Amino acid sequence: MTSKPRYDGHADWYDGFFSQFAAANAAELTDLLGPGSGYCLDLGCGTGLYLSAIAATGRTVVGIDASADQLRVARGRLAGQQPPRPALLHGDGAALPFADGSFQTVAAIWISTDVDDFGSVLTEAVRVLRPGGLFVCYGAHPCFNGPHAQLRDDGSVVVHPNYRVSGWHRRSPWWTVGRVRDRVGMRHHPLAELLGAFIHGGLQIERIAEFGSNPVPNTLAVVARKPPPAG
Ligand SMILES: C[S@@+](CC[C@H](N)C(=O)[O-])C[C@H]1O[C@@H](n2cnc3c(N)ncnc32)[C@H](O)[C@@H]1O
Repeated sequence: MTSKPRYDGHADWYDGFFSQFAAANAAELTDLLGPGSGYCLDLGCGTGLYLSAIAATGRTVVGIDASADQLRVARGRLAGQQPPRPALLHGDGAALPFADGSFQTVAAIWISTDVDDFGSVLTEAVRVLRPGGLFVCYGAHPCFNGPHAQLRDDGSVVVHPNYRVSGWHRRSPWWTVGRVRDRVGMRHHPLAELLGAFIHGGLQIERIAEFGSNPVPNTLAVVARKPPPAG
Protein backbone atom coordinates (compact mmCIF):
# COMPACT_ATOMS: atom_id res chain seq x y z
CA MET A 1 0.00 0.00 0.00
CA THR A 2 1.70 3.18 -1.17
CA SER A 3 -1.12 5.62 -0.40
CA LYS A 4 -1.39 7.15 3.05
CA PRO A 5 -4.43 5.94 5.04
CA ARG A 6 -5.25 9.46 6.21
CA TYR A 7 -8.74 8.52 7.36
CA ASP A 8 -7.53 5.98 9.93
CA GLY A 9 -8.64 7.32 13.30
CA HIS A 10 -11.35 9.52 11.76
CA ALA A 11 -13.78 6.89 10.45
CA ASP A 12 -16.40 7.06 13.20
CA TRP A 13 -16.42 10.85 13.03
CA TYR A 14 -16.53 10.76 9.22
CA ASP A 15 -19.47 8.40 9.10
CA GLY A 16 -21.41 10.28 11.79
CA PHE A 17 -20.92 13.66 10.16
CA PHE A 18 -21.41 12.76 6.49
CA SER A 19 -24.34 10.40 6.89
CA GLN A 20 -26.58 13.50 7.13
CA PHE A 21 -25.80 14.25 3.44
CA ALA A 22 -25.94 10.68 2.17
CA ALA A 23 -29.60 10.57 1.12
CA ALA A 24 -29.38 13.69 -1.05
CA ASN A 25 -26.05 12.61 -2.53
CA ALA A 26 -27.37 9.11 -3.19
CA ALA A 27 -30.36 10.47 -5.14
CA GLU A 28 -28.04 12.47 -7.41
CA LEU A 29 -25.65 9.56 -7.75
CA THR A 30 -28.47 7.18 -8.68
CA ASP A 31 -29.59 9.57 -11.41
CA LEU A 32 -26.04 9.77 -12.77
CA LEU A 33 -25.57 6.01 -12.75
CA GLY A 34 -28.95 5.08 -14.12
CA PRO A 35 -30.12 1.47 -13.96
CA GLY A 36 -27.40 -1.07 -14.68
CA SER A 37 -26.06 -4.54 -14.22
CA GLY A 38 -22.77 -6.35 -13.75
CA TYR A 39 -19.99 -5.41 -11.34
CA CYS A 40 -19.52 -1.85 -10.07
CA LEU A 41 -16.39 -0.80 -8.22
CA ASP A 42 -16.99 1.77 -5.47
CA LEU A 43 -13.48 3.20 -5.62
CA GLY A 44 -12.57 4.76 -2.26
CA CYS A 45 -15.79 3.47 -0.71
CA GLY A 46 -14.93 4.83 2.74
CA THR A 47 -17.48 3.86 5.38
CA GLY A 48 -19.84 2.52 2.72
CA LEU A 49 -22.33 5.37 2.68
CA TYR A 50 -23.17 4.71 -1.00
CA LEU A 51 -22.87 0.93 -1.32
CA SER A 52 -26.61 0.39 -0.97
CA ALA A 53 -27.55 3.18 -3.38
CA ILE A 54 -25.28 1.69 -6.05
CA ALA A 55 -26.62 -1.81 -5.40
CA ALA A 56 -30.17 -0.47 -5.76
CA THR A 57 -29.41 0.45 -9.40
CA GLY A 58 -29.08 -3.27 -10.15
CA ARG A 59 -25.30 -3.54 -9.98
CA THR A 60 -23.20 -5.94 -7.90
CA VAL A 61 -20.96 -3.73 -5.78
CA VAL A 62 -17.32 -4.21 -4.81
CA GLY A 63 -15.85 -1.57 -2.51
CA ILE A 64 -12.18 -0.79 -2.05
CA ASP A 65 -10.51 1.71 0.25
CA ALA A 66 -7.02 2.54 1.51
CA SER A 67 -8.21 3.02 5.10
CA ALA A 68 -8.74 -0.07 7.26
CA ASP A 69 -10.61 2.13 9.73
CA GLN A 70 -13.09 3.34 7.10
CA LEU A 71 -13.61 -0.27 6.01
CA ARG A 72 -14.27 -1.32 9.62
CA VAL A 73 -17.24 1.06 9.69
CA ALA A 74 -18.36 -0.09 6.22
CA ARG A 75 -18.33 -3.73 7.37
CA GLY A 76 -20.40 -2.78 10.39
CA ARG A 77 -22.91 -1.06 8.11
CA LEU A 78 -23.25 -4.18 5.97
CA ALA A 79 -23.46 -6.59 8.89
CA GLY A 80 -27.16 -5.94 9.38
CA GLN A 81 -28.05 -6.34 5.71
CA GLN A 82 -29.43 -9.37 3.95
CA PRO A 83 -27.05 -11.15 1.52
CA PRO A 84 -25.86 -10.69 -1.12
CA ARG A 85 -23.69 -7.98 0.45
CA PRO A 86 -21.05 -5.94 -1.35
CA ALA A 87 -17.51 -7.31 -1.13
CA LEU A 88 -15.05 -4.96 0.59
CA LEU A 89 -11.30 -4.87 0.00
CA HIS A 90 -8.42 -3.00 1.57
CA GLY A 91 -6.30 -1.64 -1.27
CA ASP A 92 -4.90 1.23 -3.24
CA GLY A 93 -6.90 2.86 -6.01
CA ALA A 94 -3.65 3.56 -7.84
CA ALA A 95 -2.78 -0.18 -7.95
CA LEU A 96 -6.10 -1.99 -8.16
CA PRO A 97 -6.02 -5.77 -7.51
CA PHE A 98 -8.31 -6.60 -10.44
CA ALA A 99 -7.78 -7.84 -13.97
CA ASP A 100 -8.25 -5.55 -16.95
CA GLY A 101 -11.90 -5.09 -17.90
CA SER A 102 -13.35 -6.56 -14.68
CA PHE A 103 -16.05 -3.93 -14.12
CA GLN A 104 -18.98 -2.59 -16.11
CA THR A 105 -19.04 0.52 -13.89
CA VAL A 106 -16.65 2.39 -11.63
CA ALA A 107 -17.97 5.01 -9.19
CA ALA A 108 -15.53 7.44 -7.56
CA ILE A 109 -17.41 9.34 -4.87
CA TRP A 110 -15.77 12.23 -3.00
CA ILE A 111 -12.26 10.92 -3.64
CA SER A 112 -10.58 13.34 -6.07
CA THR A 113 -9.67 15.47 -3.04
CA ASP A 114 -8.21 12.54 -1.11
CA VAL A 115 -6.09 10.37 -3.38
CA ASP A 116 -2.39 11.14 -3.71
CA ASP A 117 -2.53 11.19 -7.51
CA PHE A 118 -5.92 11.40 -9.19
CA GLY A 119 -4.37 10.78 -12.62
CA SER A 120 -2.94 7.42 -11.49
CA VAL A 121 -6.26 6.42 -9.95
CA LEU A 122 -8.09 7.33 -13.17
CA THR A 123 -5.61 5.28 -15.20
CA GLU A 124 -6.33 2.29 -12.99
CA ALA A 125 -10.08 2.88 -13.11
CA VAL A 126 -9.96 2.89 -16.91
CA ARG A 127 -7.84 -0.27 -16.94
CA VAL A 128 -10.33 -2.25 -14.83
CA LEU A 129 -13.34 -0.96 -16.78
CA ARG A 130 -14.47 -3.07 -19.67
CA PRO A 131 -14.61 -1.26 -23.04
CA GLY A 132 -17.82 0.77 -23.15
CA GLY A 133 -17.95 0.78 -19.34
CA LEU A 134 -19.29 3.69 -17.32
CA PHE A 135 -17.23 5.90 -15.00
CA VAL A 136 -19.08 8.20 -12.59
CA CYS A 137 -17.08 10.72 -10.61
CA TYR A 138 -19.05 12.62 -7.97
CA GLY A 139 -17.34 14.93 -5.52
CA ALA A 140 -16.04 18.32 -4.52
CA HIS A 141 -16.55 21.13 -6.99
CA PRO A 142 -12.98 22.42 -7.30
CA CYS A 143 -14.01 26.02 -7.96
CA PHE A 144 -15.92 26.36 -4.70
CA ASN A 145 -14.24 23.80 -2.42
CA GLY A 146 -10.61 23.82 -1.46
CA PRO A 147 -7.88 25.78 0.26
CA HIS A 148 -8.96 28.87 -1.70
CA ALA A 149 -12.69 28.75 -0.90
CA GLN A 150 -14.12 30.80 1.95
CA LEU A 151 -17.71 29.77 2.58
CA ARG A 152 -19.85 32.52 4.06
CA ASP A 153 -22.97 32.15 6.19
CA ASP A 154 -25.16 33.71 3.48
CA GLY A 155 -24.22 30.92 1.03
CA SER A 156 -21.74 32.97 -0.98
CA VAL A 157 -18.22 31.70 -1.58
CA VAL A 158 -15.19 33.95 -1.78
CA VAL A 159 -12.54 32.47 -4.08
CA HIS A 160 -9.00 33.45 -3.07
CA PRO A 161 -5.96 33.59 -5.40
CA ASN A 162 -4.52 30.26 -4.20
CA TYR A 163 -7.21 28.64 -6.41
CA ARG A 164 -4.39 28.05 -8.89
CA VAL A 165 -2.16 26.26 -6.36
CA SER A 166 -2.60 22.64 -7.39
CA GLY A 167 -1.50 19.86 -5.06
CA TRP A 168 -1.80 18.75 -1.47
CA HIS A 169 -2.84 21.33 1.11
CA ARG A 170 -2.61 20.53 4.80
CA ARG A 171 -3.98 23.81 6.12
CA SER A 172 -6.20 26.66 5.01
CA PRO A 173 -7.41 29.69 6.98
CA TRP A 174 -10.92 28.99 5.65
CA TRP A 175 -11.29 25.44 6.98
CA THR A 176 -13.35 24.86 10.11
CA VAL A 177 -11.41 23.26 12.96
CA GLY A 178 -12.46 19.65 13.48
CA ARG A 179 -14.11 19.25 10.07
CA VAL A 180 -12.84 16.84 7.46
CA ARG A 181 -10.30 19.08 5.72
CA ASP A 182 -8.83 20.24 8.98
CA ARG A 183 -8.43 16.55 9.92
CA VAL A 184 -6.95 15.07 6.75
CA GLY A 185 -6.01 17.91 4.40
CA MET A 186 -7.06 18.10 0.78
CA ARG A 187 -5.71 17.65 -2.71
CA HIS A 188 -6.82 20.54 -4.87
CA HIS A 189 -7.07 20.35 -8.66
CA PRO A 190 -8.13 23.53 -10.44
CA LEU A 191 -11.06 22.81 -12.77
CA ALA A 192 -9.06 22.54 -15.99
CA GLU A 193 -6.65 20.07 -14.38
CA LEU A 194 -9.47 17.94 -12.99
CA LEU A 195 -11.39 17.74 -16.27
CA GLY A 196 -8.14 17.32 -18.19
CA ALA A 197 -7.42 14.17 -16.16
CA PHE A 198 -10.47 12.50 -17.72
CA ILE A 199 -9.34 13.40 -21.22
CA HIS A 200 -5.75 12.28 -20.55
CA GLY A 201 -7.13 9.06 -19.03
CA GLY A 202 -8.81 8.25 -22.35
CA LEU A 203 -12.37 8.67 -21.10
CA GLN A 204 -15.18 10.16 -23.19
CA ILE A 205 -17.10 12.69 -21.09
CA GLU A 206 -20.87 12.31 -21.56
CA ARG A 207 -22.31 14.53 -18.84
CA ILE A 208 -21.18 17.19 -16.38
CA ALA A 209 -23.46 18.30 -13.53
CA GLU A 210 -23.21 20.76 -10.65
CA PHE A 211 -25.14 19.93 -7.50
CA GLY A 212 -25.71 21.35 -4.05
CA SER A 213 -28.49 22.84 -1.98
CA ASN A 214 -26.92 26.34 -1.94
CA PRO A 215 -27.02 28.73 -4.93
CA VAL A 216 -23.27 28.16 -5.32
CA PRO A 217 -22.76 24.46 -6.16
CA ASN A 218 -20.47 22.42 -3.92
CA THR A 219 -20.54 19.23 -5.99
CA LEU A 220 -19.21 18.49 -9.46
CA ALA A 221 -20.13 15.26 -11.20
CA VAL A 222 -18.60 13.85 -14.38
CA VAL A 223 -20.10 10.90 -16.21
CA ALA A 224 -17.70 9.39 -18.72
CA ARG A 225 -17.26 6.21 -20.69
CA LYS A 226 -14.31 4.03 -21.66
CA PRO A 227 -14.44 4.00 -25.45
CA PRO A 228 -16.10 0.87 -26.84
CA PRO A 229 -14.12 -1.36 -29.19
CA ALA A 230 -13.62 0.15 -32.66
CA GLY A 231 -15.99 -1.08 -35.36
C1 LIG B 1 -13.87 11.73 1.47
S1 LIG B 1 -13.70 10.01 1.66
C2 LIG B 1 -15.03 9.40 0.60
C3 LIG B 1 -15.50 8.05 1.04
C4 LIG B 1 -16.77 7.58 0.33
N1 LIG B 1 -16.58 7.42 -1.09
C5 LIG B 1 -17.91 8.54 0.61
O1 LIG B 1 -18.32 9.23 -0.33
O2 LIG B 1 -18.34 8.63 1.75
C6 LIG B 1 -12.28 9.63 0.69
C7 LIG B 1 -11.88 8.17 0.78
O3 LIG B 1 -10.85 7.90 -0.16
C8 LIG B 1 -10.01 6.93 0.43
N2 LIG B 1 -8.74 6.92 -0.29
C9 LIG B 1 -7.79 7.88 -0.33
N3 LIG B 1 -6.76 7.49 -1.10
C10 LIG B 1 -7.09 6.27 -1.58
C11 LIG B 1 -6.44 5.34 -2.44
N4 LIG B 1 -5.25 5.62 -3.01
N5 LIG B 1 -7.05 4.18 -2.70
C12 LIG B 1 -8.25 3.88 -2.15
N6 LIG B 1 -8.91 4.71 -1.33
C13 LIG B 1 -8.34 5.89 -1.05
C14 LIG B 1 -9.92 7.36 1.88
O4 LIG B 1 -9.43 6.35 2.73
C15 LIG B 1 -11.35 7.76 2.15
O5 LIG B 1 -12.12 6.70 2.66
